[in-house]
Amino acid sequence: MGRISRRDALCVGAGAALFASAAYGADDESLHKLAAAKGLSFGSAVGAGPGGLAGSFSDARYRALLLRECGVLVCENEMKWYALRPNAQTFDFARADLIADFAKANGLALRGHNLLWHSAKWSPAWLNAFDFGSSPASTAEALVKTHIERVCARYPQIRSWDVVNEAVDPETGALRETSVSKAMGEGVLDLAFHVAREAAPNAELVYNDYMSWGAWSDKHRAGVLRLLEGFKKRGAPVDAVGLQSHISAPEYIGAAEEKDWRTFLDDIVGMGLALLVTEFDVNDVRAAGSAAERDVRVATSARRYLDLVLSYPQTKSVLAWGLCDRYSWLLANDKRSDGAPLRPTPYDADYRRKPLREAIAAALRSAPSRSAT
Ligand code: G3I
Repeated sequence: MGRISRRDALCVGAGAALFASAAYGADDESLHKLAAAKGLSFGSAVGAGPGGLAGSFSDARYRALLLRECGVLVCENEMKWYALRPNAQTFDFARADLIADFAKANGLALRGHNLLWHSAKWSPAWLNAFDFGSSPASTAEALVKTHIERVCARYPQIRSWDVVNEAVDPETGALRETSVSKAMGEGVLDLAFHVAREAAPNAELVYNDYMSWGAWSDKHRAGVLRLLEGFKKRGAPVDAVGLQSHISAPEYIGAAEEKDWRTFLDDIVGMGLALLVTEFDVNDVRAAGSAAERDVRVATSARRYLDLVLSYPQTKSVLAWGLCDRYSWLLANDKRSDGAPLRPTPYDADYRRKPLREAIAAALRSAPSRSAT
C-alpha cells in the first residue's frame, strides 16, 4: 500500500505551503508554539503504513499538518519489536528511518516508542516461541541488551524514550509475563532502563502506560505505583511517567475523578518523576448527538483533562495519538452503534480544525509556565 519514497517524504514542497496558507490565518500560532511559550512541547504520532494512523505518513497533507502543528513526532508502530525485528538475528529499520529522517530534515524532535513492550500480545510471534536454551537468563539478557543498544544507537536524535511500555496487567495490578520475563525474571524491566541509560545517556527514560482514574483502574494505578517505587528503590534510572491519555467523551473529569487522578499524579511527582502526556486522543464511541455536538463533548473532556494534567509543572509535553480523524487507531478498534465515524482527533477527516484543536490550544495558553519551576 501507499509506500512513499524517502525523497517524497522529505520534500514537503508547494502542496504543504498551499495547505498551510489555505487552512490558517497568518497570525495563527501552532500548537507547538503555544506549548513552547510555556516551556512545553507538543507533537503527534505518525505511522509509515499500512492501515489506520499507520498510513498517515504517506499522505502529504498529513505531513504538512505535522509540520504546521508539531515540535516533536513519535512513530506509532515503527519502533516496536514486531516492526523492527523480523527475527532474533536481524533488524529492519527502513520504515522507522523514514520518519526519523523526516523529523531530522525538518528540525522536529523525535520520541522513541518503545524499547520493551512488556506484553506477550504485542511481542513478535518468534519472540513468544523463542528457545532460550540451557542458560535462559543470560540468553534473554543478551537479546534485550542487544536490541536496546542497536535501536538507541540508530536514533541518537531521540531524547525521550518509552523504555518500558504497559508492564502492568490492569485486571490484577501484577506484572505481565512474557517469554523474556519467564526466561530471566522481572529483572528484565530494570535491565531495560539500565541499558537504555548507557545507550542513550542524554535521553529522558520513561515508563509508559494507560492507567486512568476511577474504580475500574484502581488496581492498574496501584500496580504502576508499586512498579515505580521498586524502580526507585533498586536504582533503576527512570525519569518520567508517560500518561497515555486515551480518554473518552463524555466521561469527563468531575470532582471525584479529579481527586483520584490527582492522588495518582501526586504520588508520581512525589517520587521525583516528571510527567508526559504521550498518546492523547478522545474516543467519542459512546458520546451522543450529531457530529457537531460530539465535537463539543470531546473538546470539553479534553480541556478538563489537559487543564488538570498541565497544572502540574512536572508535565513537560503533550503528544496526540494522531492529528486527523482520517487516521486513528480507534477507527479499527471501536465502532459507534449509529455507524457514524469516530472523531477522536483535533482535525476532521478533511483536515478542518475541530473544537478539540481549540481546546488543546486553550489549555496550552492557560497552562502555567514551566520555566516558573
Ligand atoms: O501491518 C498489518 C497489515 O499488514 C494488516 O493488513 C492489518 C490488518 O489488521 O494489520 C496491520 O497491523 C496492524 C498495525 O497496527 C499496523 O496498522 C495491527 O493489526 C494492529 O493491531 C496494530 O495496532 C497498533 C497497536 O498499537 C498495536 O501495536 C495501533 O496501530 C497503534 O495505534 C497502537 O498504539 C498503542 C501504543 O503503541 C501503546 N498504547 C496504546 C496504543 C493504542 O492501542
